[in-house]
Amino acid sequence: MQPKSKQESFASYRSLLSPDLSPEEFVLFRDHIAEQSGLFLDESKMDSLRISLLARATLHDFSSYLEYLDFMRESPGEFNELLSLITNNETSFFRYPGQFEALCALLPEIMARRATLDRRIRIWSAGCSTGEEPYSIAMCVLDYLGEDISWSLEVFGTDVSKRALAICESGVYDEKAIRSLEPRWHRYMERAGDKWRAGPLLKKTVSFGYHNLIKEPYPLSVMSDWDIIFCRNVTIYFKLESTRRVIKNFYQSLNPGGFLFIGHSETLRTISDDFASREVNGVFVYQKQEEPWAPGVKEISSQTRSRADEEPGTGEETVRQADTSFAELLRQATDEFEQGHIDQARPLLEAALSRQPDNADVNLILSYIYANEGQYQSAIDCCRKTLDVQPLSARAHYLLGVVYDKVGKPDDAEQEFKKTLYADPNFALAHLNLANIYRMQGKNDLARRAYHNAIDLLMQQPEGDWVEFLGGFMGDLVAETAKKGLAQVGRGAGKGRKQQD
Ligand SMILES: C[S@@+](CC[C@H](N)C(=O)[O-])C[C@H]1O[C@@H](n2cnc3c(N)ncnc32)[C@H](O)[C@@H]1O
Repeated sequence: MQPKSKQESFASYRSLLSPDLSPEEFVLFRDHIAEQSGLFLDESKMDSLRISLLARATLHDFSSYLEYLDFMRESPGEFNELLSLITNNETSFFRYPGQFEALCALLPEIMARRATLDRRIRIWSAGCSTGEEPYSIAMCVLDYLGEDISWSLEVFGTDVSKRALAICESGVYDEKAIRSLEPRWHRYMERAGDKWRAGPLLKKTVSFGYHNLIKEPYPLSVMSDWDIIFCRNVTIYFKLESTRRVIKNFYQSLNPGGFLFIGHSETLRTISDDFASREVNGVFVYQKQEEPWAPGVKEISSQTRSRADEEPGTGEETVRQADTSFAELLRQATDEFEQGHIDQARPLLEAALSRQPDNADVNLILSYIYANEGQYQSAIDCCRKTLDVQPLSARAHYLLGVVYDKVGKPDDAEQEFKKTLYADPNFALAHLNLANIYRMQGKNDLARRAYHNAIDLLMQQPEGDWVEFLGGFMGDLVAETAKKGLAQVGRGAGKGRKQQD
């Protein structure tokens, strides 16, 4: 007899699903959705949620919503399908045109910063829905750059709705969507029967990927180095605490002096003090302040130890159990961390560290968290502690390299990425970062070879040891980033697997 599929065993018997969703069932779904996506559905959304649940649960032949909830909890794919039904994907080309005028007005400032670096402008449209926003951004900036081919532009659109992302990828829009597009922009589009399609230049400039803004930590190697982030009309549906975390992550992901655009009716008041607000032609934008790197911010282990000593019983319930073994604490902390529950992982890690300050695993996870929070000196200290115990930890060397790169120490970063590859020649992201450093140094041959290594590994071993550093991104998406880098240094000679200089 064939073993039952997960779905079959959940749908153990088949009877008609009641169209009614009880208030208790609504609360269970609401809380799960809020935890996984940030979207908070108040009671006014109960009926639309019920209709979406009815559709999905009936499709899978479930006889009760609770069975469907259990199934969905274990099936990320199904959760994404439901999410595609309940997200509000309203958008249009050049929505709130004033913000696009402000974008153009800010470009000289962005370009002045990048001029002596790589002459690249990088813009992230977070919560891009069906793609009109990132394509509008691209048209605007391409138009501004005009004939100047010494500059390149990358626009990256992300969303949690796979259905919306499929439209982004196709780039096909009907007449109704195109109506908000002034004729001067039509040159970036082409006719596709009775519809319109994004033209080759737009397709080349804009790429898309799945990214859930609520899932932390954001992978520094992919989601950083942004000059501008657009996140408009997305967090208005989030709980305040989720919005605060998302904005904090944007702050970390932006370059110093970079800009955040939020919806024209949204504000950062009560959400973040990190940004300076600026008015540009009547539009408010938020700028990340220059932040000179200040080493020696704090000494992790002594700080966490004293915190745990002075405030016994504070923090999470789980840490209060004095008899919890170290191994159990570490297991729980790792579980929470892997699920992206940083707030839950932190007190567990601190408790573990108070027992074994030199533990390599605890220090490594903490360094990852600190790096993503921008506490770079703390991250470095923790990496060093890991390396004191495990000098050949590829992950610790890699993380150290990322942090050194982030704080403007490319030579130190280069050494750490080389050590990563010494410890693990298949660490694709180390090849990628090394390639970027070589590109910035104008060492194009070395860069080409390193990009080729990264691309090969990302395509061949999507489940590599380094996969946790992708933060939920797909290996092939990161390979696209590597291909763009490769295009910038030219595709000449340089292919030679796993060689370093
Ligand atoms: C109303 S649309 C806004 C589209 C565009 N930014 C604009 O202003 O025209 C909101 C988008 O946010 C996306 N979204 C909701 N929760 C999200 C999350 N946790 N991570 C990423 N995107 C999310 C939805 O799927 C939807 O496409």
